[in-house]
Amino acid sequence: MSTVILGIESSCDDTSAAVVSDGVLLSNVIAGQSVHEAYGGVVPELASRAHQQNIVPVVSEAIRRAGIERGNLSAVAFTRGPGLLGSLLVGVSFAKGLAASLEIPLIDVNHLHAHVLAHFIRTAEEVDRPQPRFPFLCLLVSGGNSQIIRVDSPFEMEIIGRTIDDAAGEAFDKCAKVMGLGYPGGPVVNRLAAEGNPSAFSFAKPNVAAYDYSFSGLKTSFLYTLRDRLALEPDFVERHKADLCASLQACIVEVLMRKLRKAAKDLRIAEVALAGGVSANSALRESLRAHAQQFGWTIHIPPIQFTTDNAAMVAITGHYKYLRGDFCSMDVQPYARV
Ligand code: KG4
Repeated sequence: MSTVILGIESSCDDTSAAVVSDGVLLSNVIAGQSVHEAYGGVVPELASRAHQQNIVPVVSEAIRRAGIERGNLSAVAFTRGPGLLGSLLVGVSFAKGLAASLEIPLIDVNHLHAHVLAHFIRTAEEVDRPQPRFPFLCLLVSGGNSQIIRVDSPFEMEIIGRTIDDAAGEAFDKCAKVMGLGYPGGPVVNRLAAEGNPSAFSFAKPNVAAYDYSFSGLKTSFLYTLRDRLALEPDFVERHKADLCASLQACIVEVLMRKLRKAAKDLRIAEVALAGGVSANSALRESLRAHAQQFGWTIHIPPIQFTTDNAAMVAITGHYKYLRGDFCSMDVQPYARV
């Protein structure tokens, strides 16, 4: 009999459900929330309400697209944290109710663990897609995290570097916001950067210990550049938007890659993977490819739909936990922080 896992993700502003059968992805449905665009960032209360509206149709659609019945499910896996508590509560409560009604096991999944295991998602079209070999380094960059993780097996991983303030995605989003580019700003900066000169401006690069990151100084330096230049040239942002975006992007990518390079060299690991929403960034992907050429790294960049928040990664993590019999109890609670 097949092992069929339903994954549910609701940690931030995407409601997602996915079905994995014997480790192969059958469906992955994601409902985003445009309600936050008007506010320039995710509004937690609105996110919870939107999850509440979306969760039933999204799960039903994932089961329908997978071509299965609810009764075929072996277990329900859900994101327990970290994330927004109100958003997590919707997914956790739904997962509990479904698992209880079907009398099947419940599996709690750590969101960051799932981002790393996204590299092990296999689809029917790409069953033989190369997967990272252990040990590998995973650069996890999203709106809430910037980490370098040493991964020794699906269940042994250590965060060896992390941001001490803002995450890389936050740096993209906050700088985009002051340029009036809307939310989330990362993809817009990426698009505009294609027309700009990455050396036009330079911003402060942090100097923090070991493999840690810091982006608050870079952000402040970006703000001060805008403030000083706007005082002389009121349409400065409008006239230099592409160059500002290209320079900001180049700076963030260089900061990210510098520490990753150091970690790979020090730990003598040449298997390197990218995860999280910011890994959609074309300059970061390009830089990783250039590093692979220069340093002989074997690199792994997941398809874009598995880099942003998605339930496929939760379902595959649930699959591995199911094989170990690693279930949680019905009184499990979500957590906002690691
Ligand atoms: O992993 P993710 O979907 O979820 C959260 O952490 O919430 O990451 C979202 C982040 C946002 O900060 C967004 O601006 C950034 O990923 N992002 C990008 C790009 N696409 C998404 N940043 C730079 N370039 C992109 N192409």
